[in-house]
Amino acid sequence: MVGASQPSMHLTDNAALIVDASGVLTYAGPADALTALQRAQSVDLHRALVTPAFIDCHTHAVFAGNRAGEFAQRLSGASYAEIAAAGGGIMRTARLTQAASEAELVSLALPRLLQLKADGVAALEIKSGYGLTLEAEAKMLRAAGAAAKLAGIEVQRTFLGLHALPADAKSATARTEFVRQVCQYWLPELVKQGLVDAVDAFMEHIAFNTSEVRQFFSAAQALNVPIKLHAEQLSNLEGTALAAEFNALSADHLEHLSTRGVNAMRVAKMTAVLLPGAFYCLKEKRRPPIAKLRKAGVPLAIATDLNPGTSPMTSIRLAMHMACIDFDLTLAEALAGTTHNAARALGWRHRGQLAAGQRGDFIAWQIDDPAEIIYWLGSAPVHTLYQAGIAHANLGAPAC
Ligand code: NIG
Ligand code: FE
Repeated sequence: MVGASQPSMHLTDNAALIVDASGVLTYAGPADALTALQRAQSVDLHRALVTPAFIDCHTHAVFAGNRAGEFAQRLSGASYAEIAAAGGGIMRTARLTQAASEAELVSLALPRLLQLKADGVAALEIKSGYGLTLEAEAKMLRAAGAAAKLAGIEVQRTFLGLHALPADAKSATARTEFVRQVCQYWLPELVKQGLVDAVDAFMEHIAFNTSEVRQFFSAAQALNVPIKLHAEQLSNLEGTALAAEFNALSADHLEHLSTRGVNAMRVAKMTAVLLPGAFYCLKEKRRPPIAKLRKAGVPLAIATDLNPGTSPMTSIRLAMHMACIDFDLTLAEALAGTTHNAARALGWRHRGQLAAGQRGDFIAWQIDDPAEIIYWLGSAPVHTLYQAGIAHANLGAPAC
């Protein structure tokens, strides 16, 4: 290891994994160490290259409708902020998501999760945030759990309580009352219903300000709920420093992150979640300060940010590829970013590495060079996803 955020790859030739009956790895290392009995009972992966299964640590995978029309508007010059100000953007998806039933949301989310899984994603985070009422937020979080269960993927459910202001809460008093309701009533209620593994907010000039996010984070902290933040995506509001005050797990996006923010992340041991899909789709010019984050030893994670507005992307491999091309990550950083650093961004200790004590989730790739994992665009090399040591169907296609 060169530094916490500059991982190097450790490849072991002729390796073996042992998964116990409960699906946990009890050994990962040279095959020479296996006993004759263990060898006799083993399954030969035929010189496959094995990596931990992927973790998509930032998605908005539950939503109704799409925003293809807004994509076309942006191609003609409209900005994300202008579309949001005209009542589109998150508000459009919120209207459609509110109108959809829970069953509809599950059936819309399921194929998205299966597409992620086809790339080797065994666990993901799904945020609410398009409900904008207590009942619709609860519906989204329940749908997230149900869709993940049907897809056979482990899920962390994040209550994105401050994402957009409902249309009827635009006055100053109504706005204050909305934030108060979210903090004092919605959050405790959703926690009581067992629907919340973490909270998140969108701190931005088109969304929520420092004092509103501070109120929300204080409420979450009082309930011992882990904290994450959409921070410094379109401008720098020093949201990351605020998140650090609350010992947040991660700050995500970070295109406009300041040096103060980098230091705050380092001190609070936060993970930086890079979302190259949103950067690409919004044709952003300003990149997150990768070199400074690297130098500070802040772990870098990568996620799809799968959502209908800024990142309609269902491939974690594509997100890794983009992080390498657009943000200058190395292959080792890309692999760490969707495995152990992604687990870190979710506060998970039992996933993301090939080591004893970890969940037996891994991918066996039919490739010689690890770069092939993200080298092909539009198709994946042949691979098999194993969850708790059990193989799923072969996926991908032979190399061109
Ligand atoms: O991560 N930035 C805020 N939230 C999402 C976008 C949500 C949307 O546009 O629907 C994001 O980019
Ligand atoms: Fe997001």
